[in-house]
Amino acid sequence: MNSPIIIANWKCSPDNMKSALRLIENIENLLNKNKYKYYIAAPDSLIYQLREYDIVGVIGAQNIDRIEGGAYTGENKLSQILDTGAQFALLGHSEVRKRGEDENYIAEKVAAALNSDLRVILCIGEEERDHDGKYLEEIARQIRVGLGKIDNDRLNKLVIAYEPIWAIGASAAATPAESLEAAIVIRREIVAMAGLHNAKQTQIIYGGSVNESNAHLFLTEGGMDGLLIGRASLDSDVFATIINNCYELGK
Ligand code: PGA
Repeated sequence: MNSPIIIANWKCSPDNMKSALRLIENIENLLNKNKYKYYIAAPDSLIYQLREYDIVGVIGAQNIDRIEGGAYTGENKLSQILDTGAQFALLGHSEVRKRGEDENYIAEKVAAALNSDLRVILCIGEEERDHDGKYLEEIARQIRVGLGKIDNDRLNKLVIAYEPIWAIGASAAATPAESLEAAIVIRREIVAMAGLHNAKQTQIIYGGSVNESNAHLFLTEGGMDGLLIGRASLDSDVFATIINNCYELGK
């Protein structure tokens, strides 16, 4: 197995740079090996400063509002995100989609960001599960739309984050069996779009109520290459435990 991709989605936290640095210091002091790489999707206001520090964490953005500039008060464009030093970007997180982002524009942003050499984490996931399995078609559809504008040779810089909306910020995560089913649908769709060789380059991670008890199961049984973690990433003990456990699977 490749190294797991463990991403903290800090959302609107921490309150300031000092707290962010304290959190990172605590996490890194708890890592069993200092080469256990992990990722932080940080608020834009913190990225530039965080990149100045010598830390293990790879720092990225939680969104890119616009590809090009214009009269968009309060928004950031791709070149500005790149200028902060961000090394990756989440795109299409359900909390951003809920605020009205159009999925075709998300697809354009995925293509533009990949062409700019940013690593992209495209978030997808169904709103709910139905007995007829329509959610499987919805997952496949979101992949087709989201990857519809990219060049296949960029698939090695793309990560798909499968985040069922019903499991985000919830009391329970999806089961490893549910995540495996989604991973198969996602992989099959990418193979259909880009061929087996290219599809193999793309990694798939799970997000939605990940904690220290369920994290490793998504990797061992759930068909996933990593995790996108919200709440549990703000607790240094829990987050470091998840990183250590995921790197040390099978030991
Ligand atoms: P959660 O959030 O881990 O708190 O459910 C995940 C996410 O929104 O990416």
